[in-house]
Amino acid sequence: MRADFTKREVKPMSLVKPVSLVKLPGRYLAHQEGLPRLPVPPLQQTLERYLLALQPIVSQEEWNHTKKVVDEFWSPGGVGERLQKGLERRAKKTDNWLSDWWLQTAYLEYRLPVVVHSSPGVVLPKQDFVDRQGQLRFAAKLIEGVVDFKTMVDNETLPVEYLNGKPLCMNQYYRILSSCRIPGPKHDSVVNYAQTKKPPTHITVVHNFQFFELDVYNSDGTPLTSDQIFTQLEKIWNTSLQTNKEPIGILTSNHRNSWAKAYNHLIKDKTNKESVRTIQKSIFTVCLDAPMPRVSDELYKSRVAAQMLHGGGSRWNTGNRWFDKTLQFIIAEDGSCGLVYEHAPAEGPPIVALLDYVVEYTKKAELVRSPMIPLPMPKKLRFNISPEIKNDIEKAKQNLNIMVHDVDIKVFVFTQFGKNFPKLKKLSPDAFIQVALQLAYYRMYGFTCATYESASLRMFHLGRTDTIRSASVDSLSFVQAMEDPAKQNWEKVELLRKAVQAHRTYTDMAIGGHAIDRHLLGLKLQAIEDLVSMPEMFMDTSFAVAMHFKLSTSQVPSQTDLVMCFGPVVPDGYGVCYNPMDDHINFSVSAFNSCADTNVARLAHYLEQALLDMQSLIQCTPKSKL
Ligand code: COA
Repeated sequence: MRADFTKREVKPMSLVKPVSLVKLPGRYLAHQEGLPRLPVPPLQQTLERYLLALQPIVSQEEWNHTKKVVDEFWSPGGVGERLQKGLERRAKKTDNWLSDWWLQTAYLEYRLPVVVHSSPGVVLPKQDFVDRQGQLRFAAKLIEGVVDFKTMVDNETLPVEYLNGKPLCMNQYYRILSSCRIPGPKHDSVVNYAQTKKPPTHITVVHNFQFFELDVYNSDGTPLTSDQIFTQLEKIWNTSLQTNKEPIGILTSNHRNSWAKAYNHLIKDKTNKESVRTIQKSIFTVCLDAPMPRVSDELYKSRVAAQMLHGGGSRWNTGNRWFDKTLQFIIAEDGSCGLVYEHAPAEGPPIVALLDYVVEYTKKAELVRSPMIPLPMPKKLRFNISPEIKNDIEKAKQNLNIMVHDVDIKVFVFTQFGKNFPKLKKLSPDAFIQVALQLAYYRMYGFTCATYESASLRMFHLGRTDTIRSASVDSLSFVQAMEDPAKQNWEKVELLRKAVQAHRTYTDMAIGGHAIDRHLLGLKLQAIEDLVSMPEMFMDTSFAVAMHFKLSTSQVPSQTDLVMCFGPVVPDGYGVCYNPMDDHINFSVSAFNSCADTNVARLAHYLEQALLDMQSLIQCTPKSKL
């Protein structure tokens, strides 16, 4: 994902194409209205914390210079105060001072391809089918499960989620179904059709690069049963057996400017425009994938992660996607399955909550008897491919294949312990894993780097995320001590506990709306909006170092034994996602092959070693010293 998982919410309406809206249900609105508003943190607090966050990642000389620059920014009556007042005014006037800005800068104005650079994938446990029949049965049940979940969204019976005992903003659940990103020349937009007068009743199914519109409701409004869906999927399968079709969907994997141009070529044709509209309006997409090359058991999950993230390249399944679609469920004949999602409308946790629900649903026996009425043939979506579009497809293929070769992704399971171990030792599991990542990185490189961990801001109305800066003064003291033979174990344990506690404290601050990153972004955007010249603080080398996240990380927990994966956010960085289960931890680590300095296998190795070393350090150190 991008540097920020912190992408913003689609408090959509300003960016959304004009579709007629119906009022959202009252119960939902009542809950939303009761949520606190995101605060603008005090300026002095953020600047002090910014200087502290720089200490482990910049030289003393750079820090001294930045201190002067920050002091100037903060001086009474100076530009900092003015911008802060502007932000405070904005906070009074809007539901969330950050959400629209965030949506635009982190997602819709971001021009790199959504594939790898923004859209996360999810690797689900391998299913036990091995043929087409099993694939379609599972797909049918999954579709039925998602539609059942949608009923809870439509009826507002979705239980409100809590974090640290506080209710969370549920807005993202209303954004992930029936929505799609649309490319634009300077920035994209997101359209949500769930709130239109005539919400969609169909999904899109794609097989052998051919798209179909599949209605998932009977004419009386009841959802299709999985038996009915299965019959429809068989029809789709049987009418899309040719494998020589143009991979039209690959256009959506291109750089956003190129895709925006190609999009205009594509929708000049009326048939194409209708087909594109049908995909965009659909509730979600299901990709019935062709088998991928077989690999060893050890490499299997990494191979599936690549399939989810980018489809494997133009020879494989990348053309079997519409990457602008918010939710795409992917099911292959060999039992591999998962999802890829377009990040603009939501973060990982709501997506994974939906997956948890659906995975459980697929295990249920079919109880409902299917109506006997025959269903119409799902509509095939036609595309007329002009030479111009053919050319766009060829260019998209080339770019995509270069990117596919460049991404290295490794999924592995750390089996020696899970979140139960740190909990038993009265340590936050998330902080423990983050400190282990710091140790792994330090051992590989001999220094520490700006590290991003997503923190939820959903305690606030329309909240998305802020950044937990995992590289801290305390984490640096600990990792240095681990590499110092003169240090006693009891000293290392003390430093470990301090580092873990510092991380947890930063986490609490971040989820409480008092981290520094979104506030600094707000001040910067306020300067642009007020047309004041860019304050030196944002042009400073330290600021660039602080924003260059060589470690971009996120915890996405779930009930299901799955893992989310995403690409690095800088060319010389890593993307690390993890799911701490009770007795094991699922990890995904990604980097670019074109960078000589990064190596996913090595980072994975150092990470496992760091976790083990931290465990034995705690276990072998006498309790009296703890
Ligand atoms: N002693 C014992 N147990 C502890 C503990 C301690 N000192 N500290 C924490 N724990 C327990 C917690 O109670 C919790 O228990 P549970 O498993 O029974 O619920 C568990 O350990 C996990 O807590 P912790 O590891 O501290 O993390 P967390 O669940 O609070 O999550 C974040 C931390 C940052 C991941 C979370 O706050 C967050 O913001 N998540 C959103 C991430 C996101 O949006 N990602 C987007 C990706 S696109």
